Amino acid sequence: TDFAPLRARLLEWFAAQGRDLPWRVGAPGQRDPYRTWVSEVLLQQTQVARGREYYARFLAAFPSVDDLAAAPGDAVLKAWEGCGYYARARNLHRAAQMVSAAGAFPDSYAGWLALPGIGPYTAAALASLTAGEARAVNDGNVRRVLARVCGERGATPAWVQAAADAFLNPQHPGAHNEALMDLGATICTPRTPRCLECPLRTGCAAYAAGQPTAYPAPKPR
Ligand code: ADE
Repeated sequence: TDFAPLRARLLEWFAAQGRDLPWRVGAPGQRDPYRTWVSEVLLQQTQVARGREYYARFLAAFPSVDDLAAAPGDAVLKAWEGCGYYARARNLHRAAQMVSAAGAFPDSYAGWLALPGIGPYTAAALASLTAGEARAVNDGNVRRVLARVCGERGATPAWVQAAADAFLNPQHPGAHNEALMDLGATICTPRTPRCLECPLRTGCAAYAAGQPTAYPAPKPR
């Protein structure tokens, strides 16, 4: 697959149709690390719609990483109440103390990955969005979009990682990653994709085959 034209159309679509979310402040590649970090941890296990509410509440309670670091543990859990997966709140608190003591947020994928509560997906999102590092996010949405575009029914983890790396826009990795998240959430959905609104329709193998939802193939049971 020649990704160059698809990459360009994805970014154009994102600029025009990307979701307006409260943590998307500042240019991708230079986003505020505290806000972006809190939002990415929230979105690990919470839907965007509910994540917005918790994000507002959490930021109001702890406007900066130093506020979060200095807060008592039970105040952090209280602000997280209702959101579930409380290990996330405890890890946020611990990581805030590490960042506050260090005097700076990580500025690389490896640095983000070293903080508690941050796995490869979140580290790639944060490194690309806050530091402009060329790291592709890789999750179920990315797998579905790439399997369809490339007409790859198998889409093994190794294949997805290679395809995500090849598709990544090295000039705009943060915007590219968020554009893929939005495309997977709003257009290239699992059951009823909106292909006629999709910027990747021209060049999408699954669309050309007339069977977008057959990609990737369901896992054998
Ligand atoms: N899911 C995880 N990170 C996200 C982001 N930055 N925007 C939208 N959805 C997301």
